[in-house]
Amino acid sequence: MVLRDRWPARLHVVTGKGGTGKTTVAAALAIALASDGQRTLLVEVEGRQGIAQLFGTPPLPYAEIPVASAPGGGEVRALAVDPEEALLEYLDMFYKLGRAGKALKRFGAIDFATTIAPGMRDVLLTGKVKEATTRAEAGHRVYDAVILDAPPTGRIGRFLNVTAETARLARLGPIKTQSEGVAAFLRSPMTAVHIVTLLEEMPVQETADAVADLTTLEISVGRIIVNSVQPPLLGTGKATRTELRKALVAAGLPADPGTVAGLHTEAKAYLTRREVEETLRDELAALHHDLVELPFIPGGIDRAALLDLADALRSTQ
Ligand SMILES: Nc1ncnc2c1ncn2[C@@H]1O[C@H](COP(=O)(O)OP(=O)(O)O)[C@@H](O)[C@H]1O
Ligand SMILES: [Mg+2]
Repeated sequence: MVLRDRWPARLHVVTGKGGTGKTTVAAALAIALASDGQRTLLVEVEGRQGIAQLFGTPPLPYAEIPVASAPGGGEVRALAVDPEEALLEYLDMFYKLGRAGKALKRFGAIDFATTIAPGMRDVLLTGKVKEATTRAEAGHRVYDAVILDAPPTGRIGRFLNVTAETARLARLGPIKTQSEGVAAFLRSPMTAVHIVTLLEEMPVQETADAVADLTTLEISVGRIIVNSVQPPLLGTGKATRTELRKALVAAGLPADPGTVAGLHTEAKAYLTRREVEETLRDELAALHHDLVELPFIPGGIDRAALLDLADALRSTQ
């Protein structure tokens, strides 16, 4: 089965607590979904240039730039959506403002619209994402999938819940139509929100909160992606002092009581930590969503590491 059948959405929104690996996972997913001749678009909306940093490219302009190729052929392009540019593009589309748009920009009208009305800003950003996801040229979709490096779990509900926010701002007209279109798109089977977490208390709690928020908003949760999972170092044994001393002797290492005691303390702490991780994993599984685990990659995330993570995603069920 091809990956797209197992990850069926066209727009993959990647959220999670800050620092859990949203940008990394979104990039790996963009590579995985681009495998075997597909074309994907990796989008960021928070003005951080996280994608450029990750791929080691100059800051992304407001344009769709190739940043990586995928195994078996395939291309990942990237776009940093800027709310000002999105507003100009939008005004031009609906009101054919052309050069007047540039004058508007000089006046600072754009700053007004994008800073005074945060709901408006999110409609512009999500509207641009929807446009890229549904864009077709010569009867074919330009992108097989779009992957959004989204705001963190604490803000994702509000970010995606564009209608309620903008209904107050625009009761009529193209902005209302636009926000209704975006809201319907985000609630359709075309969109899935994936939540990245670590096997740690806070990110797991935020994952549970986000699942609840999104469910209330009727936005579908795709996968929960458990990132940076460490392989087990010790068996499930009790790691008693006797066992540790035997193991040291068998390995031809010094087995004095001080070394054995030190090792024993470390092993106990490690096993306790693993029990906590097991409990957190069970909590995540109880949220009733497909869990996907990605390994911790020692030595930092470079292009090779992204390909490894993409491979891991490709082999998910
Ligand atoms: N699977 C992984 N293995 C090792 N390091 C990782 C992994 N995923 C992310 N990281 C590292 O964790 C840090 C946070 O990742 P990042 O993708 O920037 O998170 P976020 O976008 O959620 O803030 C970065 O330094 C990144 O290189
Ligand atoms: Mg990030």
